[in-house]
Amino acid sequence: MSETPLTDATAAGLRADGSAAPPPLLEVRGVTKSFGHGRRRLTALDGVDVRVERGQTLGLVGESGCGKSTLARVVLGLERPDSGTVRFDGTDPFTLKGKELLAWRRRVQMVFQDPFASLNARMSATDLIGEPWRTHRDIVPTAQARERRVRELLSLVGLRDSDAHRYPNEFSGGQRQRIGIARALALDPDLIVCDEPVSALDLSVQAQVLNVLSELRERLGVSYVFISHDLSVVRHVSDRVTVMYLGKVIEHGPTEDVFDRPVHPYTAALMSAAPTLDVSGQAQDDEIQLRGEIPSPYDIPSGCRFRTRCWKSEARCAELAPPVVTRDGTADTGRDPHEGLCHFPLGAGPTEA
Ligand SMILES: Nc1ncnc2c1ncn2[C@@H]1O[C@H](COP(=O)(O)OP(=O)(O)OP(=O)(O)O)[C@@H](O)[C@H]1O
Ligand code: SF4
Ligand SMILES: [Mg+2]
Repeated sequence: MSETPLTDATAAGLRADGSAAPPPLLEVRGVTKSFGHGRRRLTALDGVDVRVERGQTLGLVGESGCGKSTLARVVLGLERPDSGTVRFDGTDPFTLKGKELLAWRRRVQMVFQDPFASLNARMSATDLIGEPWRTHRDIVPTAQARERRVRELLSLVGLRDSDAHRYPNEFSGGQRQRIGIARALALDPDLIVCDEPVSALDLSVQAQVLNVLSELRERLGVSYVFISHDLSVVRHVSDRVTVMYLGKVIEHGPTEDVFDRPVHPYTAALMSAAPTLDVSGQAQDDEIQLRGEIPSPYDIPSGCRFRTRCWKSEARCAELAPPVVTRDGTADTGRDPHEGLCHFPLGAGPTEA
C-alpha cells in the first residue's frame, strides 16, 4: 500500500531539560496484518501506529471491520504482525521466550465485550477471578493469600465478600463485567485492553462500570486501550484518541482536539453522528450523513481509502495518497501532535463540513 502512515511518535522523546524521556508504555509502529491468500487476502491493519503513555487511556474508534480488535490481539501478543514493531516498555514482546514471556503476559490483560459469554458459567466468582493464578502461581502462593486477594479485588470493583461464592447466572450484567475486570486485575497488569467493555450493558449500568475503570486508573495507575463504537463514552474516558478507517489510522491526537477540531472528514462524520451526553431528544442539525457503504476490505480504494464516501473528494483524492496534516503540536514543540491524513483537511471544526 502506498499511503503515508501517521506516525504517532512521542513528542521529541525528550524532557524539558533535554534528557531522554522513558519510552511509552506501549508503542506500535507500522504494524501490518493480513489474513487469507491470493485474491482472498485482506489487509486488516495497514501500517498502524499507536502509542499509550503510562496511566493514560487511548480511545480507539472506527466503524465495524476497521481493525480495532485485530490491533487489540496484536497488542496482547495473540496475533503476530506481518511487519512493523510492537514495543512494550521498550521491549518487543514477540522476541520473548520462557520466563520472560510469562512475566510479560502478566502485564497486559483484556476485558471483553460480553460478560455473559466470556465467563464460564460453572465457575464461582472466586475461581473466575483466580483462574489466571493457575499459570502465574508465584503471585499468590497460598490458599490463604488467594482468598485474601480475591476479597481485595472484589472490593476494588465494588462487589462484596459474599459475592465470592456466587456463580455468573446469579449476577447482573454489570456485576458480571465487574468480575471480568477483577479477573483482568488479578495479575496486577500495567495495561488493560478493553474491547467494547460496556456495549453489552444497559445504559444505566454503563456509567457505573466506566466509573470502576476510571477509579482503578486513579488508584492503581493502570493504563487502558479503550475500544468503543460509542463516541460519547470514548470522549469521556480517553486522554488521546486514534481513529481508524479500513485498517489505517487516519487521525490521532489529544481527545479534545480530535473531537472539537477534527482534521479528517471521516472523523468529523463519526463525531457528528455521536449522541451528546446531554441528550435532548432532538435530531442534531449538524449531523453529517456518510454516503455509501464501507468498501470491501478486499478492494481498498486507490489514493485516499475514504474517498468513496467523502463529500470533499476531488480527482486528486483518487490519484495520490493523502499527506499528513498537523493541526497542533509537533515533535519540536513537545506538545502532543494532532494529525490527520487528508488532501483537503477541515479547518475550524465539523461545522465547516
Ligand atoms: N482471523 C481472521 N481471518 C480473516 N479475516 C479476519 C480475521 N480477523 C479479522 N478479520 C478481518 O479483518 C478486518 C478487521 O477485523 P476486526 O475484527 O479487527 O474489526 P473491528 O474493528 O474490531 O470490528 P468490530 O467493530 O465489528 O468489532 C475485518 O475485515 C475482518 O473480517
Ligand atoms: S478530502 Fe480527499 S483526502 Fe481528504 S478524506 Fe476526503 S477523499 Fe480523503
Ligand atoms: Mg472488534
